Amino acid sequence: MYRIGIITVSDKGSRGERVDRSGPAIREMVKELGEVVRYEVLPDDLDTLKEEMVNMSDKLKIDLILTTGGTGLSPRDNTPEATLAVIEREVPGLPEAMRQESLKKTKHAMLSRAVAGVRNRTLIINLPGSVKGVQECLGVILPALPHGLDILTGRGGECGS
Ligand code: MTE
Repeated sequence: MYRIGIITVSDKGSRGERVDRSGPAIREMVKELGEVVRYEVLPDDLDTLKEEMVNMSDKLKIDLILTTGGTGLSPRDNTPEATLAVIEREVPGLPEAMRQESLKKTKHAMLSRAVAGVRNRTLIINLPGSVKGVQECLGVILPALPHGLDILTGRGGECGS
């Protein structure tokens, strides 16, 4: 079981003006992958997001951070920039797969600037903000995550099997 962190990125959510349904949707979907050890609803502030990602990775030793929201074109959408600032290596195949499959459902999928990457032994993945976006995108990549996390954390998982 992996240690999982969820960050819902929403100015309104962080002020209590909107109930977060996307974070709980992620929690439901990752039940069999691991335990959600931290869940935060944060504003779209670049530094706040960077600090929490670093905290989850370096201090809390979380294996997988899933963010939801803040990947679009609004001037306040900072999630990809925060992620790129804290990761050491990108994992482009994950957002590529999400956009490729999502485009079959909505042309708006091409508006997500989501990225994914690795900081030390933590995999960080951006998801869109809506529950529908979370379910569609996480559904695409979920089957590959156990193997990826096995390799990343050194817990085994021979490639090619
Ligand atoms: N991807 C999927 N699979 N389903 C969706 O409904 N919504 C899109 C896109 N990706 C969507 C999706 C929309 S409308 C936007 S604006 C972008 O994600 C960015 O969303 P965000 O700013 O909430 O992260």
